[in-house]
Amino acid sequence: MSVFHATIVHTPVRGELQVLRDCLIAVDTNGIIGAIHSNVPTSASPETFLTSEFHGLPVRYLSKHQFLMPGFIDTHVHAPQYSYTGSGTDVPLMTWLNKYAFPAERLLTSLPLARDVYTRLVRRLLRNGTTTALYFATLHLEPTKILADIVEDLGQRGFVGKASMDRNAPDDYSEHTADAALQSAESFIQYVIGKANPLVVPVITPRFIPTCSLDLLRGLADLSRRYGNLPIQSHISESHDEIAFVRSLHPELEHGNGCDTTIFDSCGLLTPRTVMAHGVHLTEKNISVLKQRGSSVAVCPLSNFYFANGIFPLHEHHLEKGLKCGLGTDVAGGYSPSMLHSVRTAVVASKALALTHPRGKEVEVDWRTAVWVATVGGARCLGIEDQVGTLEVGKVFDAVLVDVGDEVVGAVDVFEEMDSLERVVEKFIHLGDERNVAGVWVQGKKVV
Ligand code: GUN
Ligand code: FE
Repeated sequence: MSVFHATIVHTPVRGELQVLRDCLIAVDTNGIIGAIHSNVPTSASPETFLTSEFHGLPVRYLSKHQFLMPGFIDTHVHAPQYSYTGSGTDVPLMTWLNKYAFPAERLLTSLPLARDVYTRLVRRLLRNGTTTALYFATLHLEPTKILADIVEDLGQRGFVGKASMDRNAPDDYSEHTADAALQSAESFIQYVIGKANPLVVPVITPRFIPTCSLDLLRGLADLSRRYGNLPIQSHISESHDEIAFVRSLHPELEHGNGCDTTIFDSCGLLTPRTVMAHGVHLTEKNISVLKQRGSSVAVCPLSNFYFANGIFPLHEHHLEKGLKCGLGTDVAGGYSPSMLHSVRTAVVASKALALTHPRGKEVEVDWRTAVWVATVGGARCLGIEDQVGTLEVGKVFDAVLVDVGDEVVGAVDVFEEMDSLERVVEKFIHLGDERNVAGVWVQGKKVV
């Protein structure tokens, strides 16, 4: 249980920043926010506002340089690729996968190395205020169990996927047959379910269509159903070379970049719990299929600049057509593990798109909307919007304590006025980094 006296900054309504000053916030033993009272003077007695279960607890009074915001939700991150983040950024996707991603992932069959890389990454994400992450791990069972253990031990909310591949992968980094891949995926599911920890969830993870046979894709959809509709993740319509590869593998199908969606859908992998990464080349028709199925897209703007041969039209697909979207770092396709970076890049990407778009500035996305996508949007992709994404009574306390009293953000004394406070938040979103993260809580438990 804990009680804070703090300013809350969050985005319950897309495109709008809500700033609640001088809140008394009480978090119960289950990590649920039991009460929020705004405009409470620091001189007031907390007992006047809070029910008896919160009486007598020490109140943490935040300084005027600090505020609480919801934790970020990274909807697409490759944990094993953290080891080579920031390298190999000069080649197209398929070359990058073969030259860097697959070899780096295969190296983590060394369990001590897996433990080391995963511990560093999960710590780094938490320090950056990422309270929830949707992880891709490797093909291998034991190292992926280690990732689930580390997420659990470090207290993050983690959706963890053991990747599956049975075709067109290197001989020494493939599961070779659909049966072997399905068995391994099921063992991982059972291991995570056995933890009985609601913070750690197993995810069905066909890597992408080029490396998964149709038998494997169908079998994975069946596994998801058999274990109570488990979440599903993959990559969809990411880049020209990926699309050309799928086209060469499935010449029988109708084309026009829509092939990935058709195949995933026919195999039963598009569900309300499906989060597809990238989707830069999705067609109108694909978007409407994804929407009908309730599936969502993890938008990874930094990675897309490097690999996707295009920009995901966030304004059109999300704001106008209503496709569910979250933001992701796509480490290591994106070289930054910071969701703040992802938020900024989403804004920059929309501005780049607007430069040549017939509707110009109309398709830009502003920072408040990008923050919404990085918090509430991600929660909706994962089906946990009733628990996280904002700081409200009844939701779980997954929160970041931001301290702008650092030279990175600078302006501190403008905190006196409401308008100015919003400007300080804007400065944090654009200039802030992990040095400004003074504390992180997941389910009410302090993890940083
Ligand atoms: N498609 C299949 N695997 C990957 C991956 O590791 N990164 C990216 N960006 N795209 C992929
Ligand atoms: Fe990816």
